[in-house]
Amino acid sequence: MRKIGIVMNGVTGRMGSRQHLERSIIAIRDQGGIPLPDGDVLMPDPILVGRNEHKLRALAERYGVERWTTDLAACLQDPYNEIYFDAQTTQLRALGVRAAVEAGKHIYCEKPTGSSLQEALELAELAERAGVKHGVVQDKLFLPGLLRLKKLVDNGFFGRILSVRGEFGYWVFEGDWQEAQRPSWNYRKEDGGGIIVDMLCHWRYVLDNLFAEVKAVSCLGAIHVPKRWDEHGRAYDVTADDSAYTTFELENGIIAQINSSWCVRVHRDELFELQVDGTEGSAVAGLRECKVQHRSVTPKAIWNPDLPDPNDYRDQWVSVPQYEEPENAFKLQWEMYLRHVVLDTPFPYDLFEGAKGVQLAELALKSWRERRWVEVPELRTAR
Ligand SMILES: NC(=O)c1ccc[n+]([C@@H]2O[C@H](COP(=O)([O-])OP(=O)(O)OC[C@H]3O[C@@H](n4cnc5c(N)ncnc54)[C@H](O)[C@@H]3O)[C@@H](O)[C@H]2O)c1
Repeated sequence: MRKIGIVMNGVTGRMGSRQHLERSIIAIRDQGGIPLPDGDVLMPDPILVGRNEHKLRALAERYGVERWTTDLAACLQDPYNEIYFDAQTTQLRALGVRAAVEAGKHIYCEKPTGSSLQEALELAELAERAGVKHGVVQDKLFLPGLLRLKKLVDNGFFGRILSVRGEFGYWVFEGDWQEAQRPSWNYRKEDGGGIIVDMLCHWRYVLDNLFAEVKAVSCLGAIHVPKRWDEHGRAYDVTADDSAYTTFELENGIIAQINSSWCVRVHRDELFELQVDGTEGSAVAGLRECKVQHRSVTPKAIWNPDLPDPNDYRDQWVSVPQYEEPENAFKLQWEMYLRHVVLDTPFPYDLFEGAKGVQLAELALKSWRERRWVEVPELRTAR
């Protein structure tokens, strides 16, 4: 068995504990590791790092992890640990990643990869110069629904793609009469919060990878709910956008619109849905589902509010079958990253790609501030 030591920083947080530790690293261990071509297996061996001893010990006990520490510097010095993973709050990312690159570790981290484009690019270039492998979480690409959507695009199902419309969001409780589902720093600009910074990173890689490169962005943000209650029940002022209404122009004339909001009540099948309309057919994909309607079965819709509509529009779509058992998106990407580190297999989702997400978020904020369309220039990198 080939063990690989992974420093996991920020695992007491929402993403770190649920998605990265429990559903990815522990799930990989539980399945007996990752089979390697030479017949060996690769077994992730995490060391949990954080500030709070009690939380770390409880987490380690819950998942049967032997190694945990509050001393980040010491575990970065240990050559047994080959990878540094970071799921801390965004503002702390650069500090952790820089120290890890200096210690010669391979890097894998959550998005956004920096608090500014400059910082994100600096980290990418630092890692590249140091010759370590680097990657960023781009989990939406690995969702069962979007994986099937990508296959439809690659196989030409749509003909010429005309437009893409996305709806992301749900109601995040204010925190007074119901506990909020998201950490309070998400709603404070000064702590790195805001839905534009959070979600535009995702929309960049989704649009770039599924359809075409993003050329320009127009964004209107909003703070719809100005007062919330934090983890200790204390009221605070919301200083960061909780909703964003964005339009994108893509490289080949495709127009994309995505609404992102923590202030909408869900009347859809999934928390995120993307409708793609093309000359030959259309699809609606979500986290798990992907439904299509081909031009040959498109109903004739006729506007007549005076009569009940004879069409049951939802019923006329067909599910794209899922042939394999769906896997957790974060786990799939972890497995791909670990193979990349050990076998040098391709992993296109590096820190330069992460920086593109931060770039789009910055330009969307600029568009909102200046109330105008903003071009997305090609990133000049030292790669
Ligand atoms: N890929 C995704 O879909 C996705 C979804 C949500 C969040 N994220 C990203 O993951 C990262 C973590 O988000 P989260 O929702 O898990 O946040 P969280 O607040 O639940 O967790 C933050 C982690 O950072 C640690 N931390 C260290 N120093 C801290 C400090 N001074 N203040 C606060 N926390 C500190 C916390 O202990 C905790 O382990 C963020 O960068 C966020 O953008 C990604």
